Amino acid sequence: MITNPLRDPRDRRLPRVPEPCALVVFGITGDLARKKLLPAVYDLANRGLLPTNFALLGFARRGWGDEDFAALAREAARKAARTPWREEVWERLAGSVRFVQGSFDDDNAFDALAATLGELEGSHGIGGNAAFYLSIPPAMFPVVLKQMQRTGMADSTPERWRRVVVEKPFGTDLASSRELNELVDSVFTAEDVFRIDHYLGKETVQNLMALRFANSLFEPVWNGHHVDSVQITMAEDVGIGGRAAFYEQTGAARDVLQNHLLQLLALTAMEEPVEFSAEEIRTEKLKVLRAVSLPEDLARFAVRGQYEQGWLAGQRATGYRQEEGVDPHSTTETYAAVRLGVETRRWAGVPFYLRAGKRLPRRVTEIALVFKRAPHLPFADTDTEELGSNQLVIRVQPDEGMTLKFGSKVPGSVMEVRDVAMDFLYGEQFTEASPEAYERLLLDVLLGDATLFPRNAEVEASWAVIDPLEEFWTGTTPQPYRAGEWGPRAADEMLAAEGRRWRRP
Ligand SMILES: NC(=O)c1ccc[n+]([C@@H]2O[C@H](COP(=O)([O-])OP(=O)(O)OC[C@H]3O[C@@H](n4cnc5c(N)ncnc54)[C@H](OP(=O)(O)O)[C@@H]3O)[C@@H](O)[C@H]2O)c1
Repeated sequence: MITNPLRDPRDRRLPRVPEPCALVVFGITGDLARKKLLPAVYDLANRGLLPTNFALLGFARRGWGDEDFAALAREAARKAARTPWREEVWERLAGSVRFVQGSFDDDNAFDALAATLGELEGSHGIGGNAAFYLSIPPAMFPVVLKQMQRTGMADSTPERWRRVVVEKPFGTDLASSRELNELVDSVFTAEDVFRIDHYLGKETVQNLMALRFANSLFEPVWNGHHVDSVQITMAEDVGIGGRAAFYEQTGAARDVLQNHLLQLLALTAMEEPVEFSAEEIRTEKLKVLRAVSLPEDLARFAVRGQYEQGWLAGQRATGYRQEEGVDPHSTTETYAAVRLGVETRRWAGVPFYLRAGKRLPRRVTEIALVFKRAPHLPFADTDTEELGSNQLVIRVQPDEGMTLKFGSKVPGSVMEVRDVAMDFLYGEQFTEASPEAYERLLLDVLLGDATLFPRNAEVEASWAVIDPLEEFWTGTTPQPYRAGEWGPRAADEMLAAEGRRWRRP
């Protein structure tokens, strides 16, 4: 990191800029690289957050030259950049863009990549530092990691750092994630490994820590004495798009419960870290993940569903089994809900209901703390029939912000109480726009700040929750729900059995 001698070291508001370095993207022609990574690189450059001595290297099979790659990168960045387009920013970046052609099993191609990195050290002063982004099919991780090991590209030394970014899925179960972790750790040192869970790059998710630990208002009620239950929802209105091959093998629980939703649970339930550092935050999250318990009666408290043909926003939506590339008898779930416990003093007895699904009525991700009802209501003789529960809802996306729901008197001569909502919207309170998750996370990789990246032990603890669920579901058929509905009826019954109901966000 470059430090400014005129800067007061206590002033953390000034942006940090990484040291000279290169970013190497394997799978540069893929979907993720085009939609997210290349636009994020441009946005960082546009915000002045990339070092002056920076190089971007793409690696893929097609026979391109540097100019072809620069043209693709420009088009991708232009299409999806968050910040305004400035040609001069792009021109500066384009001068340091390189393309290396080859297949992952091609030794010569990796030798050429190592040589290109060496050349850039001289021509672009990148100081030997490099981050390698594995934006590739997971089956390719081993061969690429071994190539990096063979060529010595993975070795950090006191003079230079070498880091690797691993995309989810981190394995498909506990055993395969252990295997992957062992492989990654045999090539890179643990502190140089960055596992991307892009949810952690979202502003609202980070705000969860600010909300809890920078205020005195919420923490006293953030426990089982006051909280009745927690609902964590990740609803998507879209189907599986063109990703049938991937989704058929994966399903909702492996795709998002194992990572995004359990990470949200960990941040909601964790204790205050000793300090705001990668080590301490990850330690607290890991403690929570290890304390997560599945219900004994999985038949009652875990539900999987699959969408059938229906209507969404006035449009007919195809059923999952009719999607292109999906087995007409597929038993892959597109909806998963489960009741988890967190076996700690703070949360004993509080159910954490997690649900994720595709083709639900709207796209929303939120964490809702539902509070216990007041122990005594002196309104028995009034018009108030039933008071709702107080709720604190953290909206991760869209309309990032927070809502506090509580009862209030309806104006008039009778004492009628009705639920009202107090809203905080990021877009209204702050003039600064939130960076994209990938923008923030890429910058953190280059800065070497691992706070927002799960450690391998977290990944393994999460699989230890999901594995028994998957095992229980093996050979079963998911419950149908119509596209445009909030999941299968069994999911509603799961909460109703305990006198609760899902929020309708
Ligand atoms: N797409 C998303 O929104 C998303 C979201 C979350 C996580 N991810 C993860 O991100 C990673 C990449 O996903 P993606 O959707 O971008 O995949 P993708 O579109 O299939 O792209 C795969 C890339 O890998 C390259 N590749 C594949 N086999 C190769 C080989 N043998 N030698 C050299 N290059 C090879 C392809 O290059 P060629 O051009 O040469 O074929 C292509 O650039 C995956 O791990 C995925 O799970 C993706």
